[in-house]
Amino acid sequence: MRIDIISAIPQLMDSAFAHSIMKRAKDKGLLEVYTHSLRDWGIGKHQQLDDYQFGGGAGMVMMCEPLANCIEEFKSQRDYDEIIFMTPDGKRYDQKTANRLSLLNNILIICGHYKGIDERIREQYITLEISIGDYVLSGGELAAAVVVDSIGRLIPGVIGDESSALTDSFQDDLLSPPVYTRPSDFRGWKVPDVLLSGNFKKIEEWRHQQAMKRTQERRPDLLED
Ligand code: ADE
Repeated sequence: MRIDIISAIPQLMDSAFAHSIMKRAKDKGLLEVYTHSLRDWGIGKHQQLDDYQFGGGAGMVMMCEPLANCIEEFKSQRDYDEIIFMTPDGKRYDQKTANRLSLLNNILIICGHYKGIDERIREQYITLEISIGDYVLSGGELAAAVVVDSIGRLIPGVIGDESSALTDSFQDDLLSPPVYTRPSDFRGWKVPDVLLSGNFKKIEEWRHQQAMKRTQERRPDLLED
């Protein structure tokens, strides 16, 4: 899979893709992530990207021309399965969307800044608008990093233990059960006996019960759907 990300401040995402699972995905050739500076398409001597809102009001708006020229250049190079705009008024991001996106070949992500981008760009080019939650970030970069990370770990072969991503919280609309590692007794704080029993049927039952309990207590909305 290839992901191109367009941003006014691409440096914000550098370390997000340089370590751990994202690095492994890149090293294995399973995921290519390229960040691009929208400034390269900025207008005039100052490479301008934003301007005042028509109708007045606080905050600058990202202009059509740099975005249109940039997006058209990328589209002329390859077919994108989705052109995503990161925005707090987009569709709320969840694991189902992550699963779907992880099966695509080419994704283009646009990060907004200031008050947002000119509505005409959204109408003309954007195929999916994503919000990572009901709060406002300074720009779309950190949100884009969240989306790319969640997609990357789902690509087959990226995570060593193939079953691992599938047992994540949310994969079956349940939160994950608690996990433990050695030692089995730390300062008298004991690991539940069942996990040491070697009885895999009982362990699976216990994990499912714990996942249900945790979901009921913390996220009952997941059980309602
Ligand atoms: N840009 C600013 N806030 C955002 C959010 N919550 N989700 C996605 N993009 C954003």
